[in-house]
Amino acid sequence: MKILVTGGAGFIGSSLVRMIINETDHEVLNVDKLTYAGHLESLEAVVNSARYQFEQVDICDAEEINRIYNEFKPDVIMHLAAESHVDRSIDGSAEFIKTNVNGTHILLEEAKQYWQELEGERRKNFRFLHVSTDEVYGELGETGFFIEETPYDPRSPYSSSKASSDHLVRAWHHTYGLPTMITNCSNNYGPYQFPEKLIPVVILKALQGKDIPVYGTGENVRDWLYVDDHARALLKVVEKGKPGETYNIGGHNEKQNIEVVHSICDTLNQLVPKGVDYRDQISFVTDRPGHDFRYAIDASKIKKELSWTPEETFETGIKRTIQWYLDNIEWCEAVTENNYDLKRLGTA
Ligand code: NAD
Ligand code: DAU
Repeated sequence: MKILVTGGAGFIGSSLVRMIINETDHEVLNVDKLTYAGHLESLEAVVNSARYQFEQVDICDAEEINRIYNEFKPDVIMHLAAESHVDRSIDGSAEFIKTNVNGTHILLEEAKQYWQELEGERRKNFRFLHVSTDEVYGELGETGFFIEETPYDPRSPYSSSKASSDHLVRAWHHTYGLPTMITNCSNNYGPYQFPEKLIPVVILKALQGKDIPVYGTGENVRDWLYVDDHARALLKVVEKGKPGETYNIGGHNEKQNIEVVHSICDTLNQLVPKGVDYRDQISFVTDRPGHDFRYAIDASKIKKELSWTPEETFETGIKRTIQWYLDNIEWCEAVTENNYDLKRLGTA
């Protein structure tokens, strides 16, 4: 297949592009604007492949998207480009509306036109996969899981922009018949995650001897999934998923934030002992405004219908991730240089 990936220089997109090039025969065109979160350093392993191409383009540029669709002629579009950080959306929502809502609209409009001009098998097999988040469902109490039918209840500027884009994608399927699919995934972790998200923030602050910021009481719960398991699920969906369907993706690894932080500190105590416990650096700070209490995904539909299950447990995945950051401090320095100083974001 010829796969057009948007956001392929980001955290999940780069895992997906590396997997497509290293583990399949498909061709990839990576379309990425290279915002503060997009870095070609994450794609060094595939850059020399004859099956990989890159275009630095903003998905809000309709003319460029039109040109790219018609030149590359994709069989599949996997749409991951987005503003992805909740804290940044609290500080300023405009880029989230532009990229996540308007950008998705442009990709859909141009895809509709492109797909309508395809013929025969190519038209029948074309797919547009929109990669979304469990945050569109709002928050859970102590119990329960999000299922595909859970009503939408987004609560942050980020999640409401993603919810808007999900609605657009469904509308383009129902109104025009565009063969779209949506995935809603839980929190990802793993190599190449920009050091603004909880797990890389904790690893880097711990190593730098700085305070490790835990929002509120640390009791909020997230359901963690190793990034390559997410990428593998996305490939299953484009290969076997049904147009018009939604698939929830999650790892059944529910952890309180404080448990995640403790596990990172304890692993660092073993791997990089410094005589005192890294847990002593933990600092409880003012909570995130509107902080969702708990997310948990019921992933039984994708398991049953597409035979996907995660391969990594949290215990193995977190060790691999910490070791990767220890071995790749230069990547962290390169992607944050003149770009982000690890300061607290999203205090509104
Ligand atoms: P990321 O922030 O690491 O990467 C986003 C990528 O999109 C970057 O390479 C950036 O340069 C690119 N981009 C941003 N605006 C663009 C624009 N206007 N035009 C072209 N490219 C643009 O994000 P991520 O964590 O890899 O998330 C990827 C997708 O998965 C997002 O849609 C996100 O909502 C979704 N998602 C993320 C998670 C998670 O835990 N990280 C979980 C579920 C769903
Ligand atoms: O659930 C899927 C979502 O997961 C994705 O859609 C988002 O793109 C992704 O960023 C992630 O959102 P979260 O807000 O859950 O991730 P983040 O890493 O920012 O925060 C995880 C939890 O840790 C959350 O409860 C807030 C808390 N936190 C975060 C940071 C950065 C802290 O306690 N301290 C921190 O310094």
